[in-house]
Amino acid sequence: MSDLHPVTDIHPDIDRILISQEEINARIAELGAQISADYQGEELLLVCILKGAFVFMADLARAITVPVQTGFIAVSSYGHSTQSSGVVRIMKDLDQSVEGQNVLIVEDIVDTGLTLAYIASLLHDRHPKSLKICALTNKPQCRKKEVTIDYCGFVLPNEFVVGYGLDYQDYYRNLPYIGVLKPSRYAQSHG
Ligand code: IMP
Repeated sequence: MSDLHPVTDIHPDIDRILISQEEINARIAELGAQISADYQGEELLLVCILKGAFVFMADLARAITVPVQTGFIAVSSYGHSTQSSGVVRIMKDLDQSVEGQNVLIVEDIVDTGLTLAYIASLLHDRHPKSLKICALTNKPQCRKKEVTIDYCGFVLPNEFVVGYGLDYQDYYRNLPYIGVLKPSRYAQSHG
C-alpha cells in the first residue's frame, strides 16, 4: 500500500481497470443532465450512502443544475469480507427530515440489493414527496432483494471491484477509476 506511484498510473494492486476515469466523468455528466431535466422546477435532496458513495455524490451533485440539498446516512458494510452478510444497520442517520421532499438516494454499487431495499423502505416511511434511486454501478447477477434503480451509471460483471469510492478493507476509495483487485491482495489480507 505504501508503494510510491503517480496517481495517473494504474495502482500496483489493481489487476485491470473496468471503468476509466474518463468513462465515469462522461456518464456522470449524462446522469446529471437527465436528473436535472426530470426535476425541472423542483428541488432535490441528495442522500449519500456512506462511505462508498461520497466520491460519486460529490461529482454527481456538481452535474445537477436544479437546487440541491445534501444528506448523509451511514450503514454497516461487509466488514472485512467481500461477501454481504445480509445484515444492515444504521450507523449514522440523516440530520434532516425528508418529509415532503424530493429524495434521491445516491449509492455506489447495488450488489445483493439488501442495503438499498432497507434504506429505501426506511426513507419511504418518513413520507418524502418522491423517492428515487441513483446508483453508479449495478451487479444484477447478485440480487437477493429486488430494487428499482431509477438512474444507473454502469452494469458490472459479478466481480469484486474497488476505486472511485468503492473499497476493500477501507482502502482504494481514492482511485479515480473502477478496477478489479489482484487476487494476491486477498491472499495477503487473509494471511
Ligand atoms: P448490497 O447490500 O449487497 O447491495 O451491497 C451494497 C454495498 O456493498 C455497497 O454499498 C458496497 O459498500 C458493498 N459492495 C458490494 N459489492 C462491492 C464491490 O464489488 N466492491 C466494493 N464494495 C462492494
